[in-house]
Amino acid sequence: MALYEMKEIPVIPKSYPTNLLKKDWTKRKLFEHTGQAFVDKVHDMEVKDDDVWLVTLPKCGTTWMQELCWLVLNDFDFAAARNEHLEVRTPFLKFNYMMHKDLDTALAPTEALKSPRLIKSHMPLPLLPKQLWTKKPKLIYVYRNPKDYIVSRYYHSRSLGFNMEATLEQLALQHSEEDKSVPAVDFEHVTEFYALRDEPWVFYTSFECMKKDLRKVIKDICQFLNKNITEEQMTQMLHHLSFAEMKNNPKLNHHWELEQARARFQTKYEDHSFVRRGEAGGYKDELSTEVIAKIDAWIQRNLDYYKLSLNELLLLPVNTTL
Ligand code: A3P
Repeated sequence: MALYEMKEIPVIPKSYPTNLLKKDWTKRKLFEHTGQAFVDKVHDMEVKDDDVWLVTLPKCGTTWMQELCWLVLNDFDFAAARNEHLEVRTPFLKFNYMMHKDLDTALAPTEALKSPRLIKSHMPLPLLPKQLWTKKPKLIYVYRNPKDYIVSRYYHSRSLGFNMEATLEQLALQHSEEDKSVPAVDFEHVTEFYALRDEPWVFYTSFECMKKDLRKVIKDICQFLNKNITEEQMTQMLHHLSFAEMKNNPKLNHHWELEQARARFQTKYEDHSFVRRGEAGGYKDELSTEVIAKIDAWIQRNLDYYKLSLNELLLLPVNTTL
C-alpha cells in the first residue's frame, strides 16, 4: 500500500449526541484515513452493555491505561497478560481494516472478544457507534500535554516508516503552522470528552495524572469499573505498570501490530521502542525554544477558543508548570 492511502479524508458523522452536547455536529470538520465506509460500519456496530471503551488521541498513554484496565477487568491475571500481546487481548478498533481493507471482516477481532470487551479507539466522539448514546457503556478517556504527544508521535510515525524525511521540529511545526483553523481537530477531540467528564459512564484522566499518582488512578479505575483490589494486587499492578517493566515487556510494545504494519507499508523504518521515554515534560529537551513558543501559541489560541486552561484539560492544579 502506498503511503498516500493513509491520508486523512473527510467523513461525515451520522448521529449526534445532542442530548449531551448541544451543538450542530453537521458543521463539524472530521477526518479519518479509513474512509466513510468504515466509519459507517463503526456507527452501526453493536455495543455491549459491559463493553469498556478506551478513547484517546494517539500517544497520550493509551497502552499504559489499556494494560491497567485489561488487568482490572480480568481479575489481575498477570500470567495471562504476559502470555499474549496487548493488542490481541484488547484490539485497536480500526487496525484490522487498516491492514486488510476488508469491510466484511473489519471488526472481527473486536466482535470475537469475550465480554467484557476492552476496545481501543482514537475516533472523535461523533464517530463512535450510535449505540454508545443508548447503552452508555463505560468509557475512559486519557489526555496528555500536546507538546509531549507531538514528540511521541514523531518517533512512533518513524517506527511505521512515516515522516522519514522530516525532522522532529518540522513535524512539530506542522501542528502549529498547517492546522491554523481554530479549534484544531485535536482540541475538538479532547474538549468533547472533557465536556462529558462528569457523566457516570465516563472516566476522564490524563497521562500527567497517571505519572503523578498511578496508585490513585488504579484505585479510581477499579471503583469506576466496580472491581475490588487488594493491597497485594495493587503492589503487583504498580510494578507491572512501571515504565521500566513495560519497556521490557515484549507483549506491551506493539510488536504484533508493528510487524504487520511494516509488512503492509513496505517502507524503510526506524526501530523506536513503543514504550519510549515515558516522561511528562520530556519535550523540553527535544524541541528548541522557538518551536516550543510556536506550539504554545497554537495551544493557547485553541484554549482561548474554549476558555479553558491546559491544566484544566489535564486535571492538574491551576498553578502546575508543564
Ligand atoms: P513517549 O513516546 O513520550 O515515551 P500511546 O500508548 O497512547 O501510544 O502512548 C505512548 C506513550 O506512553 C509513549 O510516550 C510511552 O513511552 C508512554 N508510556 C507507555 N507506558 C508507560 C509507562 N508505564 N510509564 C510512562 N509512560 C508510558
